[in-house]
Amino acid sequence: MDTLEALQRRLKREQRARAEAERYAEEKTRALFEANQELEAIKGELEALVDARTAELAEARDLAVEANEAKSAFVANLSHELRTPLNAIIGYGEMLGEDLRALELEDLAHDALRILSAGNYLMVLISDLLDLEKIESGELNLNLEEVEIEPLLSSVGDLIRPQVEANRNRLELEISDTATTVRTDSTRLRQILHNLLSNASKFTHDGLIRVESFPELRGEALFLIIEVKDTGIGIAAEDLPRIFKRFAQANPSIARSFGGTGLGLALTRRLCQRLGGDISVASKLGSGSRFRFWLPLDPPLSL
Ligand SMILES: Nc1ncnc2c1ncn2[C@@H]1O[C@H](COP(=O)(O)OP(=O)(O)O)[C@@H](O)[C@H]1O
Ligand SMILES: [Mg+2]
Repeated sequence: MDTLEALQRRLKREQRARAEAERYAEEKTRALFEANQELEAIKGELEALVDARTAELAEARDLAVEANEAKSAFVANLSHELRTPLNAIIGYGEMLGEDLRALELEDLAHDALRILSAGNYLMVLISDLLDLEKIESGELNLNLEEVEIEPLLSSVGDLIRPQVEANRNRLELEISDTATTVRTDSTRLRQILHNLLSNASKFTHDGLIRVESFPELRGEALFLIIEVKDTGIGIAAEDLPRIFKRFAQANPSIARSFGGTGLGLALTRRLCQRLGGDISVASKLGSGSRFRFWLPLDPPLSL
């Protein structure tokens, strides 16, 4: 009897404990369910917020792209509109100069020469601006071909020689015969070389300008390295980071004493990059500069 009572008591106790446990579990389940619902709500809000921000960003990006396209079109149109009359100014300036010289009116011929050189300066400025614009909007198409290095360097050298010699400089070319051709756009390569050589001639007097070209293995690829070195005025260390930026000259007195627009090197760097390479400079104020650029000898077809 005692044992039966004891057993019944135990059973009751266990039933109570079980009911308690079930109630507890139910409570927890409900709490979990509520927490989950709250989380879902927060997630929903967050998603809506992200969607809204993404839409705002997309709109801002579209506006920026549109503005940039409008600017590119404007520069392209303007360049064209400017070039047409400028060609007339240059052409007639040239003719006028020749006529005046034939009439032995040297002073007047000299004035005509000024018209001519101002016109040429504007022409370079406009072409450089247009090229920069094209590169930056991804519209500069390349014409890749197998280019013979030696003839190209020599002919750019011949073209620039009057400028080199105007400041009583000497020009030397040293072309390694281990790389004789490079697959690139010859017009753009000429443009890069011309810019570097015209800077070297401008900023060097009674000095030496040297062009060296040689191949170098970088990682898995072979590159053509071309260096343009001069013994000219050099560039101060604090000015070096600026010179590849558009419209940047080493300092304000440069523009006064040497002229120029500060676009040449900005364009030169963008051209090197467009051709699959890049450019660097090492220089010391008062003891010359060394510009070095590199191009892949055999760039990918996708360039
Ligand atoms: N070979 C060089 N020697 C000394 N300074 C140079 C040389 N090349 C470039 N620079 C400096 O870098 C500046 C930017 O060059 P660039 O973009 O070609 O502009 P620009 O020739 O129109 O002044 C120059 O104004 C000059 O201060
Ligand atoms: Mg220049």
